[in-house]
Amino acid sequence: MDLWLNSITRRAAVRSFSAFLAASPLLRAQQDPFRPHPRVPGLDELEDAFGFEDVAHAKLPRAAFDYTAYGTESEFTLRRNREAFAWVSLVPRSSTVALSEVKTSLELFGTQLSSPILISPTAAQIAIHPDGEAAMHQGATKAANTPMIVSNVASLPLAKIAEAATGPLWFQLYPKREAEANRSAMEDAINAGCKAIVVTVDQQASVFERALHDRNLGATGGPPRRSTRAAPGNPYRVEEMRIWYHWGLFDQIRKATKAPLIIKGVLTAEDANMAIERGADGIYVSNHGGRALDYSPSTLEVLPEIVDAVRRRVPVLFDSGIRRGEDILKALALGANAVCLGRVPRWGLGAYGAPGVQRVLEILRREFAAAMAATGRPTLASIDRGLVRTDFA
Ligand SMILES: Cc1cc2nc3c(=O)[nH]c(=O)nc-3n(C[C@H](O)[C@H](O)[C@H](O)COP(=O)(O)O)c2cc1C
Repeated sequence: MDLWLNSITRRAAVRSFSAFLAASPLLRAQQDPFRPHPRVPGLDELEDAFGFEDVAHAKLPRAAFDYTAYGTESEFTLRRNREAFAWVSLVPRSSTVALSEVKTSLELFGTQLSSPILISPTAAQIAIHPDGEAAMHQGATKAANTPMIVSNVASLPLAKIAEAATGPLWFQLYPKREAEANRSAMEDAINAGCKAIVVTVDQQASVFERALHDRNLGATGGPPRRSTRAAPGNPYRVEEMRIWYHWGLFDQIRKATKAPLIIKGVLTAEDANMAIERGADGIYVSNHGGRALDYSPSTLEVLPEIVDAVRRRVPVLFDSGIRRGEDILKALALGANAVCLGRVPRWGLGAYGAPGVQRVLEILRREFAAAMAATGRPTLASIDRGLVRTDFA
């Protein structure tokens, strides 16, 4: 009858529910300060590229994360790429410049860049995010139109990537044996709106041995690539991949297109000269992020001699090992015109999709501008070798 008069009030209900929650062991477990916290940080909490690597590690299936992380064989070159940045010091001028005076824009092969940063071509991005290269392109475009170099082995068709955003695209080619296959791949890329072609010549027979060790420890990642083919011309059963590359192939490619051609994977002054003599419009110093030939030198160590050989005849691009804005400044001080980032935007993509790509690029742009200001270099032209001291081991 009058039961409703005695029924619990809203306030009492909230109070007793709060008391129940406060007493709950579940809540105590949440508050335990000694318990490791599995919380994934929000995008705006990350301050440097390394935080994106951690989040990508937490979120991605192990095999997908590992494919991005690994280098070839003993990973000597993978490690050396990073170590080399520690052997170069920045020597600042005592008079800094205001951040508002820092100018980072440049033009490369008809592409306008707001910063000397591009995205290196990297394969199979759907493995790290369902929107793959489309999301990479969107994030890059939102980060002040950062150009993206689309890999020859992208997981989405070029047209799908191109329609996802409006920023500049270049195309990376792994030359095939058949001249017609190379010509038509380049033609398709130009028709899809790509402004330059990057011809990769360094990728040889990557064997990701760390996957083999991990597999023995129970990981699910696939085994390293080892050929089982034993042909008369291949007695050692080496996975041939691209070990058959030769300069004649580049001549063929040069004849087949008028687009700017940049040759990626250069590690010696001789090769830089050879490439320019054969008509390359740009030299791209790279060791594939330590994924091609193990025990090849770090790219930072060989950069100065290549820049000296090039003598400003063509622009020099650089990648392998860049993780911070200061790394970009060091590469530019040693003569690169612009740098490319391989793993860094992949961590952004794997961790948060397109917004992660945008944010990680913005962080490196900010670090780079701040380092220019702090070292008293207001323009790209004012970045010279006097800015660095090298102590390569
Ligand atoms: C997962 C992964 C896939 C890659 N795929 C390609 C590719 O398809 N074509 C290519 O020319 N380089 C490829 N690279 C090499 C990159 O273009 C670049 O040279 C390298 O990642 C730079 O080193 P960083 O990762 O230390 O920045 C790949 C690199 C990674 C990490």
